Amino acid sequence: MHPLCLFCAAGVLAVVWVYKHAYSPLPVEIPQTMPFSHATHTNPAGVNMQCQSCHTGAEAGAGAGMPVASACLDCHRHILPQDPRLLPLHAAANADSPVYTGEPLAWIRRTPLPAHVHFHHARHTTNGISCAECHPTPDSPTPHTMSSCLDCHRQHALPANCDACHH
Ligand code: HEC
Ligand code: HEC
Ligand code: HEC
Ligand code: HEC
Ligand code: HEC
Repeated sequence: MHPLCLFCAAGVLAVVWVYKHAYSPLPVEIPQTMPFSHATHTNPAGVNMQCQSCHTGAEAGAGAGMPVASACLDCHRHILPQDPRLLPLHAAANADSPVYTGEPLAWIRRTPLPAHVHFHHARHTTNGISCAECHPTPDSPTPHTMSSCLDCHRQHALPANCDACHH
């Protein structure tokens, strides 16, 4: 092979590497504070909870918010009370438990927007847009992209001015 080609190939690889590392979506398989399955809790044939009962801000304000451990314990004091997977709940909010520390759960956000983008939940959810349109698979969430916002905004004939979404 001509030495220059080797150099080109390395250059292409380097560009690909930089692209992947700088621009690939955030890894969604990062470890979570404790196990949690949306499938278990929202299955209509099972526990059948509504999204808003845990993410109470999603129809009321900018952020959807995350549930506190005491809300989980409303059920889990009685359901699977001895299960080791639920120890973090008892540590956070069950003062009768030997593992109690009172330290709140720190859920890890898996698909946050970069700080330069502004998003307001209630402006969307009170306009008839369902959670599933933007979060079809909450157990393995896909990162939100600029084109996913703009595709829908175009369908609704909304202006695409940059400062609507960017600070
Ligand atoms: C029993 C409470 C509960 C219910 C009901 C619930 N969630 Fe969640 N949700 C959580 C918890 C706990 C987390 C954090 C753990 C995780 O990432 O899975 C979470 C995380 C998420 C995330 C990930 C956000 C991020 O950036 O990390 C999305 C999106 C989400 N939920 C959407 C939904 C939707 C949509 C529904 C209804 C179909 C729903 N949730 C129902 C408790 C709940
Ligand atoms: C409305 C009642 C209810 C609430 C509230 C609730 N759970 Fe559950 N959870 C259940 C039921 C029912 C099961 C299935 C029990 C079984 O397998 O016998 C379950 C199972 C689980 C399991 C075992 C793994 C699995 O998916 O089966 C974990 C872990 C868990 N819940 C975590 C949580 C967390 C964390 C919260 C709060 C964000 C929460 N739960 C809130 C009812 C609830
Ligand atoms: C139009 C799209 C859209 C709709 C509809 C939507 N979300 Fe979101 N959601 C987002 C975006 C974008 C983020 C990331 C926001 C950020 O990082 O600032 C997000 C973040 C979240 C988070 C992470 C925690 C937080 O406060 O940001 C949860 C949980 C969540 N959404 C739940 C819901 C639920 C439940 C509904 C339905 C009631 C819903 N979302 C409807 C786009 C949407
Ligand atoms: C499924 C459709 C849909 C998606 C996806 C969507 N939007 Fe929207 N968005 C709307 C609709 C409809 C409105 C208009 C609501 C109203 O009339 O107040 C809106 C309004 C807005 C507004 C206010 C518009 C203005 O000019 O003041 C902002 C900001 C916004 N969206 C940001 C976002 C961002 C950021 C994302 C992606 C992370 C996103 N949207 C994804 C449907 C969507
Ligand atoms: C409807 C909302 C919305 C509008 C309008 C919008 N953006 Fe974005 N933009 C986003 C979101 C969401 C991201 C974050 C995407 C990600 O993290 O992959 C983003 C990311 C970016 C980035 C970072 C690079 C990237 O691809 O992640 C740049 C640069 C950018 N936008 C420029 C612009 C410019 C210039 C305009 C006006 C022509 C504009 N945006 C209009 C939502 C919007």
